[in-house]
Amino acid sequence: MVQNGTQNEGQRLIDCLNIRMSQQQLIESITSDSEFYEVLEASVNFFASDQIPLKHENLIWLNKFLEAHLFIPEEDLMCSLWNRIGKMNSGLGQETTSMSICNYMNRSTIGKTFEKEKDRPIHILDPACGSGIFAVSAYNLFHKHAQWPQCWFQQVDCDLKCVYMTILNLLIRNFNAIVWHANALVGAREDMEKLNVPCQAYGLKSGKKISTLTKLSQEDSYAIWEVWYNRSDKKKENQQLTLFK
Ligand SMILES: C[S@@+](CC[C@H](N)C(=O)[O-])C[C@H]1O[C@@H](n2cnc3c(N)ncnc32)[C@H](O)[C@@H]1O
Repeated sequence: MVQNGTQNEGQRLIDCLNIRMSQQQLIESITSDSEFYEVLEASVNFFASDQIPLKHENLIWLNKFLEAHLFIPEEDLMCSLWNRIGKMNSGLGQETTSMSICNYMNRSTIGKTFEKEKDRPIHILDPACGSGIFAVSAYNLFHKHAQWPQCWFQQVDCDLKCVYMTILNLLIRNFNAIVWHANALVGAREDMEKLNVPCQAYGLKSGKKISTLTKLSQEDSYAIWEVWYNRSDKKKENQQLTLFK
C-alpha cells in the first residue's frame, strides 16, 4: 500500500511538472496583447466554423490550452493569461476576481438556488463576465449536481477579448450558454444603434464532449437581447424563447 501511495505521489509529481511545463509553454507561446487577441479570435472562429482554418502557431496554442485544461480543469487559465499578457482596460474596470472569492460567492448564490429550486432549470446571468471565471468556478462546484444539465448561463462583456476568453472557457467545459458581446447597460435596439454599441450573441450548446458554438445572426441577436432585456414582461406573458432548434 505504501509503495502504491509512493508511486501515486511520484506520478502526481510528474503530472504536476508536466502541467507547469505546459502552462509555461502556453504562456511563453504568446508574448503580446495583440497576439493574445489574435489566437483567441482564431480559436473561437475555429470552433464556430470549420471554414476558417487555424494558422499553425495558433493551432499549437489551442492544443496546449486544451491539454492544460485536461490536467487542471479547475483553474481559469484564460484569466491567468489575461493577467499576465492581456492588456487590462482600467476604464472598463477590468480587474479579476480570485477563484476563492468566486467560489464563496457562487456557494452563497447558485448553491442556495440549487437547494431551493429542485424542479426548475436554473438560469444564471453574469453581466460583466471578464474571462468567465465565475462560470469556471460554478463548473468546479456544481457540475456533478443532478440539476447541472438543466442549467444555462448568460455571459455578457463589452470587450471582445473577454467574450472570446469566456467562449473558450465555457466550450471546453461543455456548457449551455449564450455569450454576448454587448453592453449590459443598454437594452433597446434603437439605443444600441444610436450609441453604436455591439450586440452579438454566441450560442453554446452542450454536446458529447465539448459544446458546439454558433455565432447568431445580427437580427437574431437583437431579437433575443430585447426579449431578455424585457424579460419580466415576457415571463408574465408566459413566453418561452427557443434558442436552439
Ligand atoms: C471588474 S471586471 C470583472 C471580470 C470578471 N467578472 C471577474 O470577476 O474576474 C468587469 C468586466 O466588465 C466588463 N464591462 C465593463 N462595463 C461593461 C458594460 N457596460 N457591459 C458589459 N461589460 C462591461 C469589463 O470589460 C470587464 O471584463
